[in-house]
Amino acid sequence: MSSIAHSPSTGVIITGGASGIGASTMHALAEAGRPVAAWDLNGDRAVAVAAEVQAKYGVAAIGIGIDVTDHAAFVSAVRGTRAALGTIGGLVHGAGIVGAGPIDSFDDAVWNLALATHLTAAAVLIRELSSDLTANPGSAVVLVASMAAIVGFDANPAYCAAKSGMLGLARSATARLGPLGVRINCVCPGFIDTPMMAPSLDAAGLERFASRAPLRRIGQPSDIATGIRFLLSDDASFVSGTELVVDGGVLATTW
Ligand code: NAI
Repeated sequence: MSSIAHSPSTGVIITGGASGIGASTMHALAEAGRPVAAWDLNGDRAVAVAAEVQAKYGVAAIGIGIDVTDHAAFVSAVRGTRAALGTIGGLVHGAGIVGAGPIDSFDDAVWNLALATHLTAAAVLIRELSSDLTANPGSAVVLVASMAAIVGFDANPAYCAAKSGMLGLARSATARLGPLGVRINCVCPGFIDTPMMAPSLDAAGLERFASRAPLRRIGQPSDIATGIRFLLSDDASFVSGTELVVDGGVLATTW
């Protein structure tokens, strides 16, 4: 039996699709036959990942250089994506940054950028895509939150607040768009081996993260991409307004 979930054939926008979890999601969805668009600040990498998946899986794919905090850019990016993919029936919001600054000394700019990138962009993207999503049966959205949406990390209050906000956004959007046939969920990754984590991933860092997880390893981007693929697929057709934690069991335990 194939491990690939049953999917609609509509196109999916993946913000942050040039790297890490987003790039792996481009591959996982294209493998399931879905046309994909990488929207990323790094336009060159977005175009390169799109070319890779198009060559490997034979689906339509496009890479677009865009800043998700620049809402004015969405209209032409949506138009270009619709033209390249034919339809838009899915959104994965994975564009992300980590900015440190504890609650007793954080910088306003770090706070504003975290909220704008993770939370406000997610809401505006759903708003701008709502007519595409409601027009296509089986449409779904996955917001890439974090275990930081559920537990606190002292160095990153802005990141934790933005990621927690994504859980609330998914619930509210479900209340509004669920009756119109659109599902909205979050995925909450644990420690995943991506460029974002690279500064912490020397041998000692790897050992530290792996030893905290009951499954005794750090996650790979594909661990998250397959969870996202499930949530976007018809196999998850009764799942909305909730979160899938993919963390090797970290949150199930006390550290
Ligand atoms: P990554 O650094 O490999 O990828 C993030 C991508 O987002 C990059 O390609 C970057 O250019 C893009 N990006 C950043 N700001 C952007 C903006 N304003 N507009 C457009 N694109 C922008 O990182 P990774 O790890 O793949 O992260 C993906 C998501 O997963 C993020 O939301 C992150 O917070 C989340 N996450 C990651 C975890 C990890 O351990 N790696 C754990 C939990 C959540």
